[in-house]
Formats: sequence, C-alpha cells, structure tokens
Amino acid sequence: MWTDTRPAAELPKLFERGGDVISLSGGLPDLDVLPLDAISTQLSRLVRLGGKLALQYTTPHVAKALVPAVADLMAREDGHADGDNLIPTSGSQMGLTAVALALGAPGETILVQTPAYPGATAAFRTAGLELHGAAEDENGLDPEQLRTTVRELRSAGATVRMLYVNPTFQNPTGATLSVPRRAEILTACRELDLLLIEDNPYGLLGFDGATTTLFQALDPQQVVYLGTFSKIFAPGLRSGWIAAPQHLRHDLARVAEIISLSPSALAQGALAAFYSRSGWTDLIDRYRDSYRERCTLMADALDAELGADTPWTWQRPDGGFYLWLRHRDRADAGRYAQAAAAHGVSVVPGGHFSVAGEHADGLRLCFSNVPRKKIAEGIGRLAAALTEPAPQERELTAVAG
Ligand SMILES: Cc1ncc(COP(=O)(O)O)c(C=O)c1O
Repeated sequence: MWTDTRPAAELPKLFERGGDVISLSGGLPDLDVLPLDAISTQLSRLVRLGGKLALQYTTPHVAKALVPAVADLMAREDGHADGDNLIPTSGSQMGLTAVALALGAPGETILVQTPAYPGATAAFRTAGLELHGAAEDENGLDPEQLRTTVRELRSAGATVRMLYVNPTFQNPTGATLSVPRRAEILTACRELDLLLIEDNPYGLLGFDGATTTLFQALDPQQVVYLGTFSKIFAPGLRSGWIAAPQHLRHDLARVAEIISLSPSALAQGALAAFYSRSGWTDLIDRYRDSYRERCTLMADALDAELGADTPWTWQRPDGGFYLWLRHRDRADAGRYAQAAAAHGVSVVPGGHFSVAGEHADGLRLCFSNVPRKKIAEGIGRLAAALTEPAPQERELTAVAG
C-alpha cells in the first residue's frame, strides 16, 4: 500500500475493553440518555411504511426531511445549512477523507492544529498529504505564526492549501478558540488563500449550554464545515454532513459519492423522524448533563488524588468529552500510560495526537462513557501509576534502601 496509515491501525486499540480494566480511552458517547423505546418505534414505523425506500440505495443528498434538522443544529452555533450547501457523509471521519481526497493532492501539505484527533491525521496521510503542525500561543492557534509558517513552507516549494481545526472542546485538549481569535485566523486564511477545514463534533456539548460562533458562520466561502450526528445522537447510525462553499460543493459531492455511493436512507430517515417528533434540545440537554456530571466527578477525583504538589497540569474543560493532562517537566507520558494499564486503567498517550512527535508529555482522559461509580476508582488507579517513580528511580531507591 503506497499510503501511510500508521495511526489508523492503532485506533481500534483505544476501544478495547475487557476484564477489570476501567477505560478512560475511547471517545464514546453515553448512550444511556437515548430514548430507545421512542427510537425503536420510529425505526419500526419507517421500515413498515417506507421500508422499500429506506432500505434502497438513495440519491447522494442530505434527505429533504433531514435538511431542517441539520440547519437547526448549525444555527445553534450561528452556522448556515440549506439544501444547496450540504453533502451527506457517514460521519466526520468520512468527511475528513472526502476533504483530503477531493481538495488535496498527494505530496501537498496540510496545516494541522495540534494536538490533533488521530483519525484526521490518519485520513490526511492516507490521502498522501504531508502534515505540518500549526503553531499556537496562549490563546490557541496563532494567526501571525500561521502567516510565517505558510510563507516559509511555500518558499521551500510546498503547496499549502488547507488548515485543519477542531475549534470547540477540542479532541484531546477540551480547548475552545475564542470568536475574536477565529476572526483573526480567518483573516490570515483569506490573505494566504488557505481553506479552513472546521471539524466540530462537540460544539453543542458545552456543559452550561454556551455555544461559540462557527468559523463557517464567520466566512462560509472560506470554510468547509464537517458536522456529525455521532456525539449529539448516536455514532451507530454513521451519519454526518459537510457544509461546503458553493465552488467546492461539486468536487466534494463527487468524492463522497465515490466513497460511499449513497448515504444510508434508513439512518437519514431515522434521524429526520426523531427530529420531527422531539427536536434536538431535550436530547442535547441530557447529553450535556451527563457529561457535566462525569467531568466534575473526574476532575474532583484528580484534584483529590494528585493534590497540589504534582507535576501533572490540566484545566477543567467547559464541555466535550476529554481532560488533557500534561507533565510539567515534559516527561514522556507513554510510560505512564503503560503503568496505568498495569494498574487496570486505560488512557491515551499524547503521542497519538501528534503530527511530528510533539505532545508526548500529554495524556488524554475521556469521561463521557465511564460509569459514574467507576470514575473515582479509575482515577485512583491512574494516580497510583502517575505518582510511581520512573524505573531507574525505583532501582536507585532499591539500592539506597
Ligand atoms: C475531532 C473528531 N473529528 C471526527 C470524529 C469522527 O466522528 P464520526 O463518528 O462523525 O465519524 C471524531 C470522533 O471521535 C472526533 O473526535
């Protein structure tokens, strides 16, 4: 195989469970909040009354009945969707692959906000793109350094046409770019003729309901927006969308059709039926409540277990699925992740989110799917691993003692 699939091959390991291991690794939603009886009734009605359409191939469009449901979701962050700018996907993972194949060419460079979701970097590499991390300052992605980086790359002969960003409750840091910073980044993108790829699965999962204006809302012609039902409904339906600038719509739709032939009419029908009966607000509120509670339990347990005198730093996120720990002395967190596994808790080492070996001092903890009563125990196990001396320190202590 000519393409580079390195991180993708590692991904399934994040979802491995078993035995007594408490998993803080896979970014899975808490499906306990789903009204399964209602969904089951709607699905069975869909199959009974319209099964021959719902189970057939369909046209490569977001179904008419689903467009208002997508428009409603995007409007909550000031974004815009209508029948003309939408392309259906089987989730943002497919959206990322479609973007890379349709809008990039092998050998071109894509700038990536890091630490980055490994599925994105894997998709870009698989399409033959070169990855380059975009520099940050204390407010996140830095527009001034973006200008410098792009100019340097271009004068060295690289073709740079895209910038990938996961701007709200970022996977893995939980961080959100402010609206003024977004506007500055877009100004730089326009100057540099860079297309901004906005990947936004978590934007509606702010614990207090606050949302942040999308890049797409600020400049729909400069932004390719990737939306998904995975985190606000359920990933098992494998449904999402791209909201594209008019001039890119055709190329993206063509590649999306090549990847999947047609979206799932059954999944789109189920989502449209759910929306027309219940709307999104109640379900999203239930998800938010669940994640707020779990995040508080986890952050409180970390405070209690690690105390103030710890080399590990983190910030309480305001939304999303993740807590990001960093080692103050930049120690390699990989060995702590291994020690954690030996203590019966799984976390993801920061190197998974890197573009060129950076972020090895990080650990991602996911709170969204851990049973509430297991959180304190999981963090207790993790703390035991994080406070364990390094192997050579252990040997020195053994010799001395
Ligand atoms: C930042 C980010 N982008 C995309 C995805 C893929 O999501 P989907 O289920 O929509 O393919 C994920 C999944 O965790 C994610 O965290």
